[in-house]
Amino acid sequence: MSDPIENKSPQNSEHAAQQQQQQLYLRSSITAGIRRNSSVVYPVSKGEYPPVKRLDPMHKKRILVTGGAGFVGSHLVDSLMLLGHDVICLDNFFTGSKTNVTHWIGHPHFELIRHDVVDPILLEVDQIYHLACPASPRHYQSNAVKTLKTSFFGTYNMLGLAKRTKARFLLASTSEIYGSPAVHPQPESYWGNVNPIGPRACYDEGKRVAEALSYSYARQDNVDIRVARIFNCFGPRMNWNDGRVVSNFILQALENKDLTVYGDGKATRCFQYVQDLVDGLIRLMDSDVTEPINLGNPEEYTINEFAEIILKMVGEGKETTAKVVHLPAVEDDPQRRKPDITKAKELLGWEPKVSMLEGLRGTVAYFRSTLDDEH
Ligand SMILES: NC(=O)c1ccc[n+]([C@@H]2O[C@H](COP(=O)([O-])OP(=O)(O)OC[C@H]3O[C@@H](n4cnc5c(N)ncnc54)[C@H](O)[C@@H]3O)[C@@H](O)[C@H]2O)c1
Repeated sequence: MSDPIENKSPQNSEHAAQQQQQQLYLRSSITAGIRRNSSVVYPVSKGEYPPVKRLDPMHKKRILVTGGAGFVGSHLVDSLMLLGHDVICLDNFFTGSKTNVTHWIGHPHFELIRHDVVDPILLEVDQIYHLACPASPRHYQSNAVKTLKTSFFGTYNMLGLAKRTKARFLLASTSEIYGSPAVHPQPESYWGNVNPIGPRACYDEGKRVAEALSYSYARQDNVDIRVARIFNCFGPRMNWNDGRVVSNFILQALENKDLTVYGDGKATRCFQYVQDLVDGLIRLMDSDVTEPINLGNPEEYTINEFAEIILKMVGEGKETTAKVVHLPAVEDDPQRRKPDITKAKELLGWEPKVSMLEGLRGTVAYFRSTLDDEH
């Protein structure tokens, strides 16, 4: 009998994989449950798990994803599972949720561990994607000391695990290490302009020390490291009460409330779609590139433009009274951010494929369906 996987052309199989992945988060009743009055009902899955690729033992890896139940982590888990690997998702569920990975629970290739990376853990793995860390200012500032502990001890423990198991280690770093940048757009060679004592320092400096730790382990103990500097990312499964601009605006627009812009709205941001980021992370992990790599979408918008786009997209064909309103600026909020992705293009052959508008349409559809389930 012919093998359906091997018969597909690369383009067809890429498209099919994307569609398969979309189904995982669009089946919201399975992942988020069905709301019935004051109850929530989770259907018992009687069907099959999503089909995963058949890998021969030479190519199949045991992959640890810390923070795997979070927004980016859960999409990464989906991709790695569909690629046929054995995946361990480790999370303390501070900002992540089991519902993001429900569709894999019980699958023979998948394991979910509740654990805090601040404590060491013994596992046998070939690769570690280290994402565990709250990413939104609201969450990382709610316990700044814990954020610093997660950034330092969490990274220290995972690098120790990588050293013992000789696993390759990828750090999810951030564009926040550039602080309020004096160089625009930001190349990896820019050392940044971070306020070390401000309210964002727990995260920005936490990630800077996580990078320093990674390169120290690489120099001193030959740990095989990769460092991704991630710029703003959005998509389905974003935590919608985390106060970040994309989820805030979409939620406010869907509920016909005014969109709140902090400051004059002239600050710029670039937003990448989560699937592009996940592709970049996997490419970086599987490459020989040990220097830090920016992953982001250079399409630049002011916050005001962005608010107007969302208002228009959500309000399409409907009466809306919502408008953009301005509130006082937030301390240390960077004014400009734009990735220079020359290195990602040259060294990884990576660049974003999903435009901001296209990604936004999918995200609005996801939030709308989740909101419908709530009512
Ligand atoms: N989303 C973005 O725009 C963005 C931008 C730059 C960098 N990043 C980085 O990517 C990673 C993932 O971000 P995200 O947007 O998915 O955030 P998220 O908050 O949705 O996910 C973080 C996950 O880590 C878990 N976690 C937090 N502290 C932990 C701990 N001590 N032990 C174990 N698990 C812990 C959370 O429960 C959550 O599941 C983070 O490291 C973040 O710094 C994200």
